[in-house]
Order: sequence, then structure tokens, then C-alpha cells
Amino acid sequence: MMVFDLIIIGGGPAGYLAAERAGHEGLNTLLIEKRFLGGVCLNEGCIPSKALLYSAKIYDGAVNGEKYGVTVENALLNHEVVVRRKNKVVKKLVAGIKSKLKMNNVTLVEGAAEILGKSDEGFEVRAGENSYTGLRLLIASGSVPVIPAIPGVKEGIEKGYVLTNREILDLKEVPSSLVIVGGGVIGLEMASYFNSAGSKVTVVEMLDHIAGFTDREISEILMKNYQKKGIEFKLGAKVTEVREDAVIYESEGRAYSLPADKVLMSIGRRAASQGLGLEKIGVITERGSIKTDERCRTNVPEVYAAGDVNGVSMLAHTAYREAEVCINNILGRKDIMRYSAIPSVIYTNPEVACTGENEESAKQKGIDFEASKLSMMYSGRYAAENEGGDGICKVLIDKKHRTVIGVHMIGNYSSEIIYGACLMIESQMRVNDIKELVFPHPTVSEIIREAIFEF
Ligand code: FAD
Ligand code: NAI
Repeated sequence: MMVFDLIIIGGGPAGYLAAERAGHEGLNTLLIEKRFLGGVCLNEGCIPSKALLYSAKIYDGAVNGEKYGVTVENALLNHEVVVRRKNKVVKKLVAGIKSKLKMNNVTLVEGAAEILGKSDEGFEVRAGENSYTGLRLLIASGSVPVIPAIPGVKEGIEKGYVLTNREILDLKEVPSSLVIVGGGVIGLEMASYFNSAGSKVTVVEMLDHIAGFTDREISEILMKNYQKKGIEFKLGAKVTEVREDAVIYESEGRAYSLPADKVLMSIGRRAASQGLGLEKIGVITERGSIKTDERCRTNVPEVYAAGDVNGVSMLAHTAYREAEVCINNILGRKDIMRYSAIPSVIYTNPEVACTGENEESAKQKGIDFEASKLSMMYSGRYAAENEGGDGICKVLIDKKHRTVIGVHMIGNYSSEIIYGACLMIESQMRVNDIKELVFPHPTVSEIIREAIFEF
């Protein structure tokens, strides 16, 4: 019987990257995936949504071209072609991962993995008809959408008029009206695409603001941009029922009905920890998420967890880094996970990108901070490319140490710029050091340098 050095459950960003790294380091590695290699990110998350949003961006550019001296007659977004192209992109990337796993001698098995227990030889894991033994386990089973117990939702999913991220990214036709329950990241990205594609989009959000933990001023600017495009928002609204053609919600004690051809449920995700057999080896979970320490170890020796399943930061880039932390620790190299400068991006048009503390979180932590805020129009490139743009950049510094602790931006290219801010935070760069850096001109990135000069 072959005993693997490492068995990885789940082939999403956490699982496939861990497998690649482990294989590269010479660990005899088995990766088990029950659905599609690439996980949510590649097949029904990050990549498909970005492919759709890019088409929307091109279309928006064509439609709004006149103020830039470009007139496009009969601009058309062909949803069928957009989805076909998305599928092509996904296929190519999945094939790339498959070949990298092969290159690194990883054994790939298709099937739903279930932990059976631990014997003297190691951990026993079943997938399909076969059982496998591994000296170590890495659980990277990801997350699934939260489906609320609102009357009509379950039935709607069965009948196909209530969608999750999985179905909406594969819709054959653009719905005439789309009601999105939850104004977080998925809701906003899908609102952006389907608005451009021609749906009448309404976002129903329970809180009094959209975009969750995003800097409040930035989420307000984003909402105004959306409203200008015709997306409607119902804030402080509680959905009480979903019917085949309508969503019923309550706000300030009154009930309202919204016509809905399709309904997207995007109210958050939860760790996919059920049915794995975690209880057989005593892995502790907290509200369904696997509890891990800073080295991504669970409470059971030689059992690690990375990615969405630990519930800490449900982002693909976090999953990548956690996977590396696991493999380094397995190899005896001490490596710890730091979450203070993880970027978060909303890939709408305009883009939002943030990292580190925002004013609210800094206040809560009692950090003595100073904030500088600039209109993006101070960037020459932004002004040249964004007629009437209302983007801003906010930089927060720790007053005592004069180090950057947070950067928040709304405006296009923010997604590509934010990593520079993460570097500043991670390396605890001081304001005066940043002032000595040379940024390329003209770029939108210069706005960070300008904002820093306010201190
Ligand atoms: P997953 O990608 O969920 O992969 C887990 C894998 O484990 C799955 O393939 C699953 O089939 C498999 N699995 C589960 N149980 C078993 C089992 N018992 N046996 C075998 N296999 C199993 N993040 C970003 O950073 N940027 C974005 O732009 C972004 N966009 C997103 C858009 C959408 C619509 C969604 C839904 C998510 C988005 N995310 C984004 C989040 C990102 O997809 C996740 O953070 C990321 O996929 C987490 O990776 P993971 O490996 O932990 O889990
Ligand atoms: P989310 O947590 O971002 O947003 C959920 C929203 O739904 C919140 O605003 C919440 O207040 C609201 N809500 C909760 N219950 C509700 C109810 N009953 N009625 C109305 N509103 C309700 O979750 P989302 O959008 O589902 O995304 C899940 C995760 O996927 C994100 O947290 C993120 O980690 C990841 N993701 C990341 C993306 C990116 O990085 N660009 C893109 C999409 C998803």
C-alpha cells in the first residue's frame, strides 16, 4: 500500500497551489477534487465573473464613448458570446493547472473525499471506491453559498428562478429583471454586469449601506455611480418571501413587492466542512469553519486547513498564501500567516480596492491615526481617462510611527495598484521613505504618492 506524504482535500486555489508547491518540494502528494479542478475561483467565481465584467467594461466604453469623441452606433453586448468566451478562458486556465500538477508529480483523483480515521500508518481517506493513506492532511474544501430559510428560496432554486453564483455565471439569457439579495461583493459585481447586459437590476440589502466593510465614503460613491447607470438599491430591507415572479421585502414596517424574472442570492458564504468526516479525527470547527492557528494548523497534529474553509478571509489570494504557509510548516520551515495587508477588490466599473485598516476599524482598535483624502482627479492619467470621474484615494497612517496602515481607492486601475499599498503596509514603510519613491508618470498610482505628501 502506498502511503502519501500529504493528502489534500479540495482542488481550489488553496488545494491546487498547495499541491503544486508540495510536489515541487518532493512530497509525494495526492489531491482529491469532487467537482472541478480550480474550485470556485476558476469555475464559478473570480475568473468567470471577471471575464463577464471585462465584456461589460468594453460595452460601457462604447456606449459612453461620445464624451471622448468616439461614437459607436448599435453597440451590442451579446451575452451568449460573452459566456462562451468565459468558458474558453476557464477551460484554458484549468488545463494550465492540470499540467502544472502533472509537472510536479501530483497524483490527482476525482471524487468526494471522506476522512475515515487515523491508523498507525496515517490518515485514511476514502474517495469513490478507493481508500488512501497519508502522513498528513490538508483540508481545502472551500465554501458554499449561504441559502437562507426565507419562504420560497429553496423552491426557487429547485425550479431555477432563484440563482447562486454558480447558475448566474452560466445563464443562457439575460433576465429582463434581476433582483439581487445582498449588496456585498458578489451582488455588486453581478449588478454591474447584468445592468450593462440590459437587465433591470435591483439590489436588496439588509444593512443601511452596500459593500460590507468597505470604507463608507467609498461605498457611497460606488452606489451613486451605480444609481446613475440605473441600478436601484433598497437598503435596510428584509426579504420575507420569494415568489416565481416577485421578491417581497419589508422596510420600515411596510411590505413591498419587486417584480423579478430571476433572483440572485448573494448574502455570504460558509465553510464547506460538512460530510468530510472531520469528527472522525476530532478536528475542531467554530460555526462550521475549521479552527486554525497562525501556521494554518488545526488542533489535530499533522492536519492543516487553508482557504475559505477556515472562514478567516474568503479570498483566493488569501487561500494561496495560506496554502504556502501550510506547505512551509509541513517542510519544517516556520512560516506564519499575516492578515493585516490583504487586499480586497471589487471589480466593478469603477473598481474599488482597499487594504489595511479603514477609519472605522482603526478607531475600534484605538489606533492614533491620521487620514489624507484626495480626489483621483489629482492624477493626470485619471483626469485624462475619466470624464466627470468622482474617484478618491484615502491613505491612513499611524501618527506615532508614521507608517502607512491603510489605503482605500475607488477608480479604475485601483485593482492593479493596490499591491503597492500592501507592500508599504507589510514592510512598515514610513511616510518619509515613500516620499522618496519614484512612481511612473502619468499613472493613477501616483495618487498614493500625492496623498502621502499631505502628511
Ligand atoms: P474553493 O475554490 O471553494 O475550492 C474548494 C474545492 O474543494 C472545490 O472545488 C470543491 O469541489 C472541493 N471539495 C469540497 N469538498 C470536497 C470533498 N469532500 N472532496 C473533494 N473535494 C472537495 N476571490 C478573490 O480573491 N477575487 C475575486 O475576484 C473573487 N471573485 C469571486 C466571485 C464569486 C462569484 C465567488 C463565489 C467567489 C469569488 N472569490 C473571489 C472568492 C474565491 O473564489 C474563494 O476565496 C476561493 O475560491 C477559495 O479557494 P479555496 O481553495 O479555499 O476553495
Ligand atoms: P458578502 O459577505 O460580501 O455580502 C453579503 C451581503 O449580504 C452583505 O452586505 C450583507 O449585509 C447582506 N445580507 C446578508 N443577509 C441578508 C439578507 N437576509 N437580506 C439582504 N441582505 C443580506 O457576501 P457575497 O457577496 O455573497 O460574497 C461572498 C464572498 O465571496 C465575499 O465575502 C468574498 O470573500 C468573496 N468574493 C470576493 C470577490 C472579490 O474579491 N472581488 C468577488 C465575489 C466574492
